[in-house]
Amino acid sequence: MTKIRVFLKGVRVVAVVCSQWGDSGKGKVIDVLAEWAEINARGTGGDNAGHTIVINGQTYVVHLIPSGILRPGVINVIGSGVVVNPRVLLEEIALLTGQGVSVAGLRLAHNAKLLLPHHIMLDLARESCPGKIGTTGRGIGPAYEDHCGRRGLTITDMLNPDVFVSKLRHSLEAARRILGSYDLEVLKAIAQIPRLSSGAFWDEKNFLNLDAVVEAYQGFGQELKGVITDTDTLMRQSLGQKNILLEGAQGTLLSVDYGSYPFVTSSDASVHGLAKGVGLNAAAVDLTLNVVKAFYMTRVGEGPFPTELGGQRSAEWCANGSRDKERQTYPALDWGDCTDDFQLGVKVRQQGGEYGATTGRPRRTGWLDLPLLRYSSAVAGRHGQHVVLTKLDVLTDCSLIKICTNYRYVGPPYHLGQRLLTTGMRLSAAIPDTTVLAHCQPVYQDFPGWTADISHATSRAELPERLKTLIAFVEQKTGVTADALSVGPDREQFIIK
Ligand code: IMP
Repeated sequence: MTKIRVFLKGVRVVAVVCSQWGDSGKGKVIDVLAEWAEINARGTGGDNAGHTIVINGQTYVVHLIPSGILRPGVINVIGSGVVVNPRVLLEEIALLTGQGVSVAGLRLAHNAKLLLPHHIMLDLARESCPGKIGTTGRGIGPAYEDHCGRRGLTITDMLNPDVFVSKLRHSLEAARRILGSYDLEVLKAIAQIPRLSSGAFWDEKNFLNLDAVVEAYQGFGQELKGVITDTDTLMRQSLGQKNILLEGAQGTLLSVDYGSYPFVTSSDASVHGLAKGVGLNAAAVDLTLNVVKAFYMTRVGEGPFPTELGGQRSAEWCANGSRDKERQTYPALDWGDCTDDFQLGVKVRQQGGEYGATTGRPRRTGWLDLPLLRYSSAVAGRHGQHVVLTKLDVLTDCSLIKICTNYRYVGPPYHLGQRLLTTGMRLSAAIPDTTVLAHCQPVYQDFPGWTADISHATSRAELPERLKTLIAFVEQKTGVTADALSVGPDREQFIIK
């Protein structure tokens, strides 16, 4: 029996979520566990997610399709809680097929939420104004808004032309009222981007050409018909019958319900939302693995990030930067060359390849934050106890590693219900209220780094003592157990306790 099967003996449903702001390496963990899985299902988000998986040196990037697609024989479900841009899904299918990957196991929920061109327009129009969130620009927020606003379309509507047209009119009507408040030239420019078929859906008077959308989406529907099915029932009937792997998207700190609101995505990225988004309940999950990048963190987009290396300078650099610009400005930076925290943040980004799989944006980098981890574990309840520490190889050769153990609140008096926060107060668990988080000063404990190459380690015992000390410190200070460790991007570079 393989190590994975021994580890998961007696377990039928495993969920993999990120305890941070996403991009923690869930895709790799899912890919490793998919060896055990018979079903791999996604339940939240859309093509804002991006998983990069490396197998034998070959890189695969998936946005909507669950990472388990890379394991032959696994049924891969895009669940009812996902917002699906069918055009992106078809492109992804074509790309994987071109790389020799079979998509025969793909199943798409008939009641998944349909993402339409006007959702992308609305997203980008809003992001062009002050107060932006720094979204991925994929239309995710407006698509979920349509769902909550009771005017959303679902995947199966693409197969029923009359229903599709009538529901589309209703959704477009609401969108037009909002789009009408933006500068026409801005909208026109947005409509020309390739993601919106380079102007194919544009209509000067109505913003969107209904007929063009109907024609395109009916085509998509026909192409996807073979994979559209009732996945909620499939999932319920598979409980206790099959090994089920639930794949989270984004992370708990980006959850619309539990995250650093409003700088979040528009779905519940926690284990609770994930289970619901595949037609199940979190109670059905036997084991939740919380993926935690160590011993640094990243964040994409706007919003407070207490341990950010380089603070505001880093936030601005990443908001306006790109991988190429960074390469030109800081070519081949060595750990020893970093003269300040900002440069250290750049080095961490370069070493960890921390550039968005979906957008290519540089990710903001900072030290591992235990108050945030304590918070994420707490909201997960019994699901918050087991973690997988990833990207452990990234900080090899970094001489000084800091871990944020708690915060000092440095803002003005602030009422959290009946609890009054006052300046100087210590906080051991983060409070996701953005006003509070923006006024939290990290308190650090310093650790010497390690220099040995860990990328070939196959057991925890083989790791350098200094690294083992760091892992034990995180476990002891948060009460979680590190069940697995990822020491490199490849499938094989994975240590199970
Ligand atoms: P949206 O999901 O595109 O609406 O973006 C909302 C926020 O979530 C922004 O800060 C994004 O950068 C962030 N976000 C969305 N998807 C991901 C992801 O997969 N990784 C990291 N951040 C993400």
